[in-house]
Amino acid sequence: MGESKRQKLDEEERKITVIAHPNIALIKYWGKASETEMIPLNDSISLTIDLFNAKTTLTAKRIDDGEGVDDTVSVNGTNLALSTRFNRVFNSVRDRLGVQWSFTVTSSTNFPVAAGLASSAAGFAAIAFALGKAFDLPDEDIERWARYGSGSASRSVLSGLVQWKKGDRNTESHVVSHFPSSHWPDLRLIILVAKEEEKAVSSKEGMERTARTSALLQDRIRRNSERIQGIINSFAAHDFPTMAELIMRDSNEMHAVCLDSYPPIQYLNSTSWSIINLVHSFNSESVRAAYTFDAGPNACIFILNEHVEEFQTLVSSTFSNGEFVDKKNMFVSTLGQGPRIHK
Ligand code: DP6
Repeated sequence: MGESKRQKLDEEERKITVIAHPNIALIKYWGKASETEMIPLNDSISLTIDLFNAKTTLTAKRIDDGEGVDDTVSVNGTNLALSTRFNRVFNSVRDRLGVQWSFTVTSSTNFPVAAGLASSAAGFAAIAFALGKAFDLPDEDIERWARYGSGSASRSVLSGLVQWKKGDRNTESHVVSHFPSSHWPDLRLIILVAKEEEKAVSSKEGMERTARTSALLQDRIRRNSERIQGIINSFAAHDFPTMAELIMRDSNEMHAVCLDSYPPIQYLNSTSWSIINLVHSFNSESVRAAYTFDAGPNACIFILNEHVEEFQTLVSSTFSNGEFVDKKNMFVSTLGQGPRIHK
C-alpha cells in the first residue's frame, strides 16, 4: 500500500483495545453539586481491583460533514441504548477534535455488571482512556471524559491510592494519585458477591434523592477532608487498624444517609448485614478486616494477606449453604493498576 493511501486510511479509522479496572472507594462519593458537569459534593479516595477488568475496543471512523454520527456501545454482547452520559462523552470528544467521528465501543467485563461493583467505573474509564490514546490527547481530557460517563470512573484512570478532588468548577474537578499500588503489597481485597441482580435505585437517582432530602448529608460532608487525610496518613504508614475503622465508618455513614433520604434507599440486604457482623466478630481482639459497600449488597473486604485464609474459612463456615466459596461469589484480589493499552 502506498504511503499516502496508508496515511489516509489511518486518518479515516482508528482502532485501539484497552483494559481498565474497577475501583473501590475507601471514602465514598455520594451526592453531586452538578449532574451536568458531574461535580461531586465531597472528595473521595479509592484503590483499583486487579482481578476484575473491562476490556474495551474502540473503533473511531471519520465521517463527512452532513453525515449523521452513528455511535454504538455493546457490553458483554448486548447493545446499549445510548444514555445522555455516553452522548455527553462522545459529543465532548467531537467538540475537542473539531471534526466529525463516529465511535463504536465493544466492551467485555469479567465481573457482574450493575451489581454494586462499580462496573460503570471500569467501563467509562476504559472508553475515556481509549479515546484519549486513539487521538493522542492529554490526561486531563481522559479523566474529564471518564467523569462525564460516571463520577467514580475518573478514579480508575490512575493507579494506586487515588483521590478525586471535587473542585468547584468543571475545570477544577480532578484526580491525583498519592501512592502507587506497590506501596502496600500485602493489602488484599476480598469481594463477596451477595447477589447478581440489577440494583433497584441507581447511584445517580440515589445521590440525587439524598442531596435533595437528607439533612444528615451536610454533617457527612463536614467530616470529609479529615477522613480523606486520615486514609492518606494511615495508608502511608501501613496503619491497618486506623485505615480500617475509617473505611467501615464511612461505608456505614453513606448507607445511613441513604436511609435518611426520603423515601429511604436501602442497598444492604440481610447477607450484607451478616457480613458486617462477621467482620466485627473477626475484629474482636484486633482490627484485621474492614468492609465497605457501594450502592448494592456486595461487600468488599480490605485485609492483609496473612489473614485472608482465616477470614475465607470463617465466611465459608458461617454461610453454610455454600453461598461463598473461593472463586464462587468470593474473590481475592491484589491492588490493581491504572488503564493500559492491550497489545
Ligand atoms: C457508592 O460513579 O456510579 O460507588 O457519577 O452518577 O455515575 P455517577 O455515580 P457512580 O457512583 C458511585 C458511588 C459509590 C461510591 C464511590 O464509588 O465513591
